[in-house]
Amino acid sequence: MSRTLLIVKPDATERNLIGHVIGRLEKAGFKIVEMRMLTLESTQARKFYAVHEGKPFIDELVEFMCSQVVVPMVLEKENAVEDLRTLIGATNPANAACGTIRQEIALDVQRNSVHASDSDENAAVEISFFFS
Ligand code: RTP
Ligand code: MG
Repeated sequence: MSRTLLIVKPDATERNLIGHVIGRLEKAGFKIVEMRMLTLESTQARKFYAVHEGKPFIDELVEFMCSQVVVPMVLEKENAVEDLRTLIGATNPANAACGTIRQEIALDVQRNSVHASDSDENAAVEISFFFS
């Protein structure tokens, strides 16, 4: 068993899609082991996405992530990181494979409904960012 972090992003919470995302996760065999609901402050969002500091979209990304409540959760499954990245699909929903969460509900490359950790190392860091 391994763990990863998923965040239901502001565009999805705003459209009442928290339950929809959770349903997709549970159907795919992920166990929700921790979950919170909070509104990020810009310093927190900037720290969470520190890897993107200096990129042209960082200010917009921070503003977006703080625009509405978000729902971070810790998910457990065998091969959790890789399987969750497959389930959510490509960053830009226009490129996301059929049947992925982003292909189904994301609005555009920024408002793409969910975040998922991209490695076991980052999953550990991101889980400790939200859960003690
Ligand atoms: P995430 O970290 O949220 O799971 O998304 P990701 O790995 O698929 O994509 P990443 O490259 O890490 O980008 C982080 C988030 O920044 C926003 N973004 N906007 N306007 C743009 O060109 C652009 N590119 C990325 C998205 O919200 C993306 O998920
Ligand atoms: Mg990423």
